[in-house]
Amino acid sequence: MTGDDQKLRESDAPDAREALLAALAWQVAMGADEAIADAPLDRYRESAEAKAARQAPTQRSQPTSQPTSQPNSPPTSPPTRAPTARAPRPAPATDAPLGAAEAAAEGAAAAAQAQDLQALRAALEAFEGCPLKHSATNLVFGDGNPQADVMLIGEAPGADEDRQGKPFVGVSGQLLDRMTGFIGLDRTRFYITNVLYWRPPGNRTPTEAEVAACRPFIQRHIELVAPKVLLLVGGKSAKSLLGTEQGITRLRGKWFEYEAGGALGAIPALPTFHPAYLLRNAAMKRFAWRDLLALQRRMQELGIG
Ligand code: URA
Repeated sequence: MTGDDQKLRESDAPDAREALLAALAWQVAMGADEAIADAPLDRYRESAEAKAARQAPTQRSQPTSQPTSQPNSPPTSPPTRAPTARAPRPAPATDAPLGAAEAAAEGAAAAAQAQDLQALRAALEAFEGCPLKHSATNLVFGDGNPQADVMLIGEAPGADEDRQGKPFVGVSGQLLDRMTGFIGLDRTRFYITNVLYWRPPGNRTPTEAEVAACRPFIQRHIELVAPKVLLLVGGKSAKSLLGTEQGITRLRGKWFEYEAGGALGAIPALPTFHPAYLLRNAAMKRFAWRDLLALQRRMQELGIG
C-alpha cells in the first residue's frame, strides 16, 4: 500500500465508505456483474473535462499565448483530449431486420467454406455480422472431444465462459458435468458448444437477429463434428435448431430429428432443461434426470453406449 493509499484510507470517513458501498451495490443491482475495462475510469475527471470543453468558447475570446487563427481561416478546433480507457459499449438489445438478413447470408457463405473446425473458428473470428462480438472478451467456440458421437449444444456463454473462452465452465457447466457424469459421459466422450458464440452483455436474452447471425455457424459446426446424437440444452438451443416456437417445458424429453446438411441427414435430438434453470428450480432436476436416462438408452441403441 502506498503512502497516498494509506492517507486515503485514514481519511475515508465511514459515511464516504458507506456511500461508496451503496453505489457499488446499486451497480450490482442494475446488472453490472464485473469490471470489463483494463483500467479504471475516472468519471469525475471526464465530467470535469467535458465541463471545461463546454466553457472553452468563452475562454478562447481571452488573450492566449496559443497561435491564433487568421481572420479568414476556419476556427481552430478545441484542444483534443488524451484518449481514456473506455469500457466496450454493450450491443443494443434490439433486432435490426435488414442487417440480420445480410449477416445471416454472409455467415452462411463463410461457414459453408469451412472444411474443418479450425477453419470454422477462423471464419467466426473474421465474422462481423454478430454485434455481440464487440462487447465480448472472447469467442467461445467449443470444448470436449470433436470426434465424439454425442454433441451438447447450449444457449450462450456467460461471464466465466467469456473470460475463459470455453463453453460451460461456470456453475451451470459444473452442474451439467455432474449430471452427464451420472450416465458415464464426460468431456472426453462428448463435444460441447452453444448456439451463440459470444456472451450477451449482462447475460441478457439474445435477440432473434443475434441467434440468426450465428445459426449458419452452429449448423456447420454440427456438420463438421458429425455426431450421432444431439442433446439440446435449454430452450434457446432447442428453438433455434429445431425451428419451433414451443417452450422447453413442452419440448424436453421428446426426441426430434435435426436435419443436418450434407450426407449426415437426420440426427436424433433431445431437448432438456438448462442447468441454470435447474439451479433455480431444483424440483425440475428429476425431469432432467429422465432426459439423461433417455439419452443413455438411445446411445445404447445406436451402439455408442
Ligand atoms: N450457459 C450456456 O448455455 N452456455 C454456456 O456456455 C454457459 C452457460
